[in-house]
Amino acid sequence: MQPPHRSGERFVDLTRRRALRKVVGMQAPSPRGPLGTLVHGWLTRDVAVDLASARALVASHDPLTDPDFQLTLWTLYELHYAGFDDVDDRWEWDPSLLELRASLEDVFERALRELAAETVRATVSADGALADRLFELTTTFEAPPLSRYVQRRATREQMLELLRHRSVYTLKEADPHTFAIPRLTGGPKVALVEVQYDEYGAGRAERHHARMFADTLSACGLSAQYGAYVDELPASSLAVNNAMSLFGLHRRLRGAAVGHFAAVESTSAMPSRRYVDGLTRLGFPPVAAAYYDEHVVADSAHEQLAVRDVCAALADAEPALETDIVFGAAVCLHLDALAAGELLDSWTETDKALTA
Ligand SMILES: [Fe+2]
Ligand SMILES: [Fe+2]
Repeated sequence: MQPPHRSGERFVDLTRRRALRKVVGMQAPSPRGPLGTLVHGWLTRDVAVDLASARALVASHDPLTDPDFQLTLWTLYELHYAGFDDVDDRWEWDPSLLELRASLEDVFERALRELAAETVRATVSADGALADRLFELTTTFEAPPLSRYVQRRATREQMLELLRHRSVYTLKEADPHTFAIPRLTGGPKVALVEVQYDEYGAGRAERHHARMFADTLSACGLSAQYGAYVDELPASSLAVNNAMSLFGLHRRLRGAAVGHFAAVESTSAMPSRRYVDGLTRLGFPPVAAAYYDEHVVADSAHEQLAVRDVCAALADAEPALETDIVFGAAVCLHLDALAAGELLDSWTETDKALTA
């Protein structure tokens, strides 16, 4: 079957779209390897792709550590969010592209299930109510002390690096989990919407969390343009983003989507407090810390809603989803720990080199 771009209409449409578009968005990111090169050429220059060779490339990558794999998946997911100025929006539902994405997702999901297997097994088999087990998991999970380091020791450059890494998700904060809303019913849907309403500013554009983070970036002298720093993200940070999209975009993974959402909400308040301290210690203006200040308060309430009224209520209604709810939470914790550990390791190596 010929993909739609063979019709020859694609560039006409793209030219019109560029002329109508008031906001300048991002370009498709520069490839980081053979898989990305192939998809970039496919999306932006009509270069024909042999799906069998593309699938062979997918299979040859380690999904959790290979930036080529993760950036390619991120690029394909991004077609469902803001898209790219140099890519026609119709690619979003192109069957061949979706087929390629599915082969990336198969490999990625298998790796995530393996990564989280022991945590899922221990949490699912523990005694007690699911809400209690989820709180136990998020409070006892051993993660690298990134926020403590930021609070006490990080340099200005390290703080800025962290903000650049976080910007790729936070400038569209909440969007991946919002995909779960139409997949839920009753109480869990209502509770998820209640949290997301806050994430989107509770009716006030200036309180939209993504906008508040844009204000943080600007106050720190960084670009607030969505996707501005995607080129410097390591595979681990891209995987954090991609796991949310994987869960949000598949109805069969709705349990994982809300489990991930609950883990995000339950692990935010304390680190946010420390980021406020770090930004203040480093002399950034108060507006830079406002985003994190907001999360100290908001996420203390959100975590209760997310764990009890979304996750536990969903498991009550659909007991078969419990394991995936725990899986989603465990993936959030493991991937955040991988990304934080890498960043912290690179910083402590630099510190050692400077003091040697
Ligand atoms: Fe938020
Ligand atoms: Fe929140």
